[in-house]
Amino acid sequence: MPSTLPDGDPVPTDGSVPERSLAEVPTRPLSIYLHVPFCRSRCGYCDFNTYTADELGPGASRGDWADTAIAELALADRVLGADRPEVSTVFVGGGTPTLLPPADLGRVLAEIERRFGLAPGAEVTTESNPDTVDAASLAELRAAGFTRISFGMQSADAGVLTILDREHTAGRAQTAVAEARAVGFESVSLDLIYGTPGESLDSWRRTLDSALAAEPDHLSAYALIVEDGTRLAARIRRGELPMTDDDDLADKYVLADEVLSAAGLGWYEVSNWARTPGDRCRHNLAYWQGGTWWGIGPGAHSHVGGTRFWNVKHPTAWAGRLAVGESPGYAREILDPETRRIERILLELRLAEGLPLSVLTDSERARLAAPEQSGLVELVEERAVLTLRGRLLADGVVRDLLD
Ligand SMILES: C[S@@+](CC[C@H](N)C(=O)[O-])C[C@H]1O[C@@H](n2cnc3c(N)ncnc32)[C@H](O)[C@@H]1O
Ligand code: SF4
Repeated sequence: MPSTLPDGDPVPTDGSVPERSLAEVPTRPLSIYLHVPFCRSRCGYCDFNTYTADELGPGASRGDWADTAIAELALADRVLGADRPEVSTVFVGGGTPTLLPPADLGRVLAEIERRFGLAPGAEVTTESNPDTVDAASLAELRAAGFTRISFGMQSADAGVLTILDREHTAGRAQTAVAEARAVGFESVSLDLIYGTPGESLDSWRRTLDSALAAEPDHLSAYALIVEDGTRLAARIRRGELPMTDDDDLADKYVLADEVLSAAGLGWYEVSNWARTPGDRCRHNLAYWQGGTWWGIGPGAHSHVGGTRFWNVKHPTAWAGRLAVGESPGYAREILDPETRRIERILLELRLAEGLPLSVLTDSERARLAAPEQSGLVELVEERAVLTLRGRLLADGVVRDLLD
């Protein structure tokens, strides 16, 4: 979640959403995202809404996060009303959720279950920085009801980890995968970053091999984004490190797809691969397929039937609003049907399942002929699916289609 928030219309102080958006709630799966805005130290490339102990300032503390999250769950319960499905997916992200005691995360999860109910087979994920867990804390998280865990590994190359300012050693993430599996997590994922200044193609290959040796069920590989205002951006500006290079990023993406497919992981979204369709992250799929989700926590975004809203960014402001019984919503946007259709194109074209052609207008359908002829898109059972080359140029394909 980027640290700057867009502007929009004000959110009512009671957090209510328009009736016509609420009317969609019974028809779609319900997801809950929880944002834990704390990190032990800030990685040089990271622009997420997260704070180290020094950055946090007065009026907010890690110890209060669970109670404040529980207060926001009460608000979500009131706003969504009784006519809603049980929760299908929960995702605790950050920041570093596993900096909190497992009992705090467990308490919040128990409150979700008490208020909303968890659907049978619900997917309950936490993100984790591998140096913040051990076998005992993982066992506690599993016992509290977490079914899935995603570790930020980023690289197996000690030099790359140093440039990224990561605190863990190259092998820690792989050990954490084994520990998570041993205590019964149903699905374990690793996050990798490619394109770090100084990373060679061989180093990236070793990272992929080393991640695969841990036998994760799911893997995300992200091209390094040099975010304004980060330490990494400053070092590149000063000429201490070279800027990322688009051709290098493309070569590394192609290598990732080759190595991961050969190991039996199939892509299902441009940056995500899973061992079986059952290992795909259902929470992220809900984002990409227009589900309902409520984002709890500072800066968290929500979507309810075409109304999008997002919370105030700072943990102190978030806690302060909830303490006086007000919504922590900072702003909202009510999407019209045409905007929702365009968002569907943007998101579903990035999925391996592809975009149903029925979503396109006649002129968009005609414009699809060009990327089809140049081998960027294939038509599979009335859906437009990106080819490997198309995945490298996904944004351009969408731009040409919507022209
Ligand atoms: C919230 S973090 C995951 C959990 C934990 N905080 C960690 O870093 O290990 C989510 C993921 O976003 C990715 N990420 C963050 N900033 C990025 C950037 N500037 N470019 C590419 N990927 C980034 C990293 O792969 C990271 O694992
Ligand atoms: S640990 Fe994760 S969220 Fe925290 S600063 Fe590093 S990448 Fe960002």
